[in-house]
Amino acid sequence: MPIPARELATHGPVIPVIVIEHVDQAVPMARALVAGGVRVLEVTLRTPAGLPSIERIAREVPDAIVGAGTVCSVADAQAAASAGGLFVVSPGFDPDIARACVDLDLACLPGVATAGEVMAARKAGLDFLKFFPAVPAGGIPMLKALHGPFPDIAFCPTGGLTPQTAGNFLALPNVLVCGGSWLTPADALAAGDWARVTQLAQQASALKPVA
Ligand code: 3PG
Repeated sequence: MPIPARELATHGPVIPVIVIEHVDQAVPMARALVAGGVRVLEVTLRTPAGLPSIERIAREVPDAIVGAGTVCSVADAQAAASAGGLFVVSPGFDPDIARACVDLDLACLPGVATAGEVMAARKAGLDFLKFFPAVPAGGIPMLKALHGPFPDIAFCPTGGLTPQTAGNFLALPNVLVCGGSWLTPADALAAGDWARVTQLAQQASALKPVA
């Protein structure tokens, strides 16, 4: 059985969107995030190191709940499952990927940015969606507007959020968790500055809704 997608939102207020350049960064980075209270890790498939990083984290960091981001094809979803990922995040909604996730026992968090995409994803049985790219696609006013016709749909806004604005998103009734790349800055990963990653994770874990 896959973990329910909404479970991804129950381990803290922020899901980090991670770009890994070198697979050797994966395990210490994941441990640093977990030490800071962040367990759900979206490792993007944007770099060649993405997939092997998911594999290593799944094997060596048992407290992490690791999944694949930037999943753009059924083949990506299959690769994520083979690597031991537990969920997939896509920038957009593709019904083929949603169906594949059911077969692969993966939780599926596809991106949507319009009412039509919400309807298509809901038709595929999904009720927890990534709102992407959150700020360019309308930010808080758009999420408020979507809540009217879709009170049953919850979102993970991602794209353009900051530690300063995430609390405003978390205050919305249809936002369960936020996504963002600020927890794992490229320079911190390149320098192996795991203390900084833990500190950023601690700060993210402590974020509260700001009405
Ligand atoms: C992404 O897919 O890159 C995410 O949306 C991260 O966006 P951010 O860098 O604005 O947090």
